[in-house]
Amino acid sequence: KTIKDLGDLRGKRVLVRSDFNVPLDGTTITDDGRIRAALPTLSSLVEAGAKVVVTAHLGRPKGAPEDKYSLAPVAARLGELLGAPVTLAEDTVGESAKATVAALGEGEVALLENIRFDPRETSKDESERKSLAADLAGLADFYVSDGFGVVHRKQASVYDVAQVLPSAVGSLVLKEVESLKKATDNPERPYVVVLGGSKVSDKLGVIGNLITKADRLLIGGGMLFTFLAAKGYSVGNSLLEEDQVETVKGYLADAEKAGVEIVLPVDILVADEFKADSPATVVAADAIPDGKIGLDIGPESQKLFASKIVDAKTAVWNGPAGVFEFEAFSGGTRAVAQALVDATSNGAFTIVGGGDSAAAVRILGFDEAGFSHISTGGGASLEFLEGKSLPGIAVLDS
Ligand code: 3PG
Repeated sequence: KTIKDLGDLRGKRVLVRSDFNVPLDGTTITDDGRIRAALPTLSSLVEAGAKVVVTAHLGRPKGAPEDKYSLAPVAARLGELLGAPVTLAEDTVGESAKATVAALGEGEVALLENIRFDPRETSKDESERKSLAADLAGLADFYVSDGFGVVHRKQASVYDVAQVLPSAVGSLVLKEVESLKKATDNPERPYVVVLGGSKVSDKLGVIGNLITKADRLLIGGGMLFTFLAAKGYSVGNSLLEEDQVETVKGYLADAEKAGVEIVLPVDILVADEFKADSPATVVAADAIPDGKIGLDIGPESQKLFASKIVDAKTAVWNGPAGVFEFEAFSGGTRAVAQALVDATSNGAFTIVGGGDSAAAVRILGFDEAGFSHISTGGGASLEFLEGKSLPGIAVLDS
């Protein structure tokens, strides 16, 4: 069901689960992409005259209020973007939430405080989650699931509440699913996947799955050093997950059997320290000197990666190629982003997935229109690409 299927919403209280887990520097939002992505659903509910109650999480508080995880900066930014103030309830489902919802007029929006301040949200005990879901349901007539970044979590505000209230899928979740399906259901080929980010262990499922699906798998970011180690190369002081080396050897063998090309960097930008101003030198990828830390792929690798991306018909990118937050080590991530933009102009369907790569695209100043789809999901988009059933979506079909 979509929002339209819920019927006339004028004067009705609609609870929307959004993903407002945005990066913050103190109380300053450094990337508001997830808030902007929530606007189509929220604006359509405002226009329909609904009383809109939004619930969301920020960070991973331990089930109790913590100032640094307050959604106050989000409420302020959301109000600016919607062009009308958004009231922030002081609690999640308590007296302040009830009073805030009761005071809402038609077409007005309120935000409940960080739902993870309530320990029942993430509880493994179903009865605890159900009790929070009942409290949330008491605040609304309908539920709309629009927090794509969190649909892989079986949590009270994502999963259980959808079993209590008449529910619909929001337009962000719909758009995400339609776009990501282009990579999972018969992708146009060549299908190229670029993976980066720090840890192999975060991406085991997706790597194992893509090895049988993609035509080329390009590996950058911190995880590339575990691949280099699996090939028997020395990696100096670079990030290395020793306990994953054997698994990665298995992937390399599987890829060879399946005829999937694994593309590893040929040169690496190294430094003495993990610091923005640590002088950078280029070394061969199979001979990283002792004491050096790899912080980005090198210039030859940038060219190599671009050549492997530019003729793709479907391309997925998850995870920065290097420490793009440090200007001197942002070249690899820039090169990957630019190659995707070029592939898009050549007619490819290009997807940027993962919180960090989506943020990198914006922070490095790329025009979002240069990519076919920038996912708001980190773990959620990876699990979707793995082909896993996502609880927050599956529950809407049940
Ligand atoms: C994310 O940032 O990927 C989502 O908001 C989910 O957050 P979580 O990993 O803390 O559940």
